[in-house]
Amino acid sequence: MSWQASVLTLFPEMFPGPLGHSLAGRALREGRWGLDAIDIRGFATDRHRSVDDTPCGGGAGMVLRPDVVDAACEAALASGPGRPVVALTPRGVPLDQAMVRGFAEGPGVVLLCGRFEGIDQRVIEARGMLEVSIGDYVLSGGEPAALVLLDACVRLLPGVMGAAASGEEESFSSGLLEYPHYTRPTNWNGLSVPPVLLSGNHAEVARWRREQAEMLTRTRRPDLWARHGSDNPIALDGQASAA
Ligand code: 6GU
Repeated sequence: MSWQASVLTLFPEMFPGPLGHSLAGRALREGRWGLDAIDIRGFATDRHRSVDDTPCGGGAGMVLRPDVVDAACEAALASGPGRPVVALTPRGVPLDQAMVRGFAEGPGVVLLCGRFEGIDQRVIEARGMLEVSIGDYVLSGGEPAALVLLDACVRLLPGVMGAAASGEEESFSSGLLEYPHYTRPTNWNGLSVPPVLLSGNHAEVARWRREQAEMLTRTRRPDLWARHGSDNPIALDGQASAA
């Protein structure tokens, strides 16, 4: 049985969307992973097919009903038990590569896409859901976040990318941003490629790339740099580390 993603959403037509294209799309057609988009509204029980209601205690917006969400979860897990249930919400823990790696190594995921103001807390707790966010900004719904999470997982599945992928993953695992890339022509509109990259000196190339990666990380992502530094005492003074 291949890696299986079930997405609980009010907009099942948003899937596979971009994941039907490029590497993820080819892998989906090859059966290297599976995707079922489950319409939450299909589990409504009243004659108005309601999935949400007003917040207890008052306030703006609507809240997804626990009974409807629970029934949708039950249906998803029936076709693939033992998968983590992840609720996509801006109040979740931030998604990172370590979490992605964990999901990709397991049997798959059940993703609940939040809409409205939120999801009833009781079903989040009863199902032991992990609440995940993809960054500090607000989307109108969890669907684009589910697509992001799935893209990040699927590219790590065996046979989805070539040998290039594993190396690329390593480089993010190092905790540094990637160094700049160049290709031909070596002179474009009067702009040249850094000579070291044309020198044929592999040790010098490696040193230049590490220096560039460290400088970029220090200036753009002081948060990443601080964590990198704590794992690499030599970098704590903020200088590029010695070869
Ligand atoms: Cl997972 N959902 C929504 N609605 N907004 C977000 C998000 C998720 N992550 C960041 N912003």
